[in-house]
Amino acid sequence: MENQQIVAVVGGTGALGAAIAGRLAKAGIAIVIGSRSAESAQATADAIGHGARGMSNPDAAAAGDVVIVTVPFAAQASTMADIAPHVGGKIVVDTTVPLVPPKVMRVQLPPEGSAAVRAQGMLGEDVRMVSAFHNVAAHKLATDADIGCDVLVFGDDKAARSVVVGLANAAGLRGLHAGALANSAAAEALTSILIFLNKTYKVDGAGIRITGDLIDPEA
Ligand SMILES: NC(=O)c1ccc[n+]([C@@H]2O[C@H](COP(=O)([O-])OP(=O)(O)OC[C@H]3O[C@@H](n4cnc5c(N)ncnc54)[C@H](OP(=O)(O)O)[C@@H]3O)[C@@H](O)[C@H]2O)c1
Repeated sequence: MENQQIVAVVGGTGALGAAIAGRLAKAGIAIVIGSRSAESAQATADAIGHGARGMSNPDAAAAGDVVIVTVPFAAQASTMADIAPHVGGKIVVDTTVPLVPPKVMRVQLPPEGSAAVRAQGMLGEDVRMVSAFHNVAAHKLATDADIGCDVLVFGDDKAARSVVVGLANAAGLRGLHAGALANSAAAEALTSILIFLNKTYKVDGAGIRITGDLIDPEA
């Protein structure tokens, strides 16, 4: 992705959004943080530095060339409605894991099959919907450490998917093409299993790494 392109992180005041934004900002990518409160967004942007700016979620969505949505499943519908008028034709990256408390260690996918397919339905077919970052622990991403995690990237638009693979790589992870948007169900479901593993094996943020020598399809 060209460095002059702007990545907006809607819900970017939260754990995952601020961590992704921080890593991308350090990599030289122009970042806009979105929040329901422009003041909160600016406070997070100030903490990130590197020229990051903060604004309301709709303004951030309007400013971004790529719009990453990092809000809880319970807030997915209202947030998508807030940004819908501003994302036509853009790449929108949904990170939503459809966790339904209190049973977060149990897979509970929505009737649409996945949160990502649900998001596409909310925003319309002209949005270049991609989903990613479901299986990386935000508190680990918030550090500068090499956390050795793969990021499975889903989407029906291969060029859009490539952009997001590039963003995952820029964030110090390994982005991998993982197929159609509907495949996102697998990564979304896997998060409940990772939470189970965290509890059962006392892991501080289990993640995934695909084995084998992968040959970059774009090299
Ligand atoms: N945390 C992780 O390790 C992790 C890892 C992988 C995937 N995920 C997924 O990524 C998404 C974000 O996770 P997170 O841990 O970053 O969430 P979070 O910190 O709890 O919330 C993120 C942001 O969402 C906004 N928000 C919260 N409740 C809302 C509501 N009712 N309506 C509208 N906006 C609301 C808030 O922003 P404002 O108050 O500023 O508007 C908040 O800062 C979730 O779907 C999660 O499953 C998380």
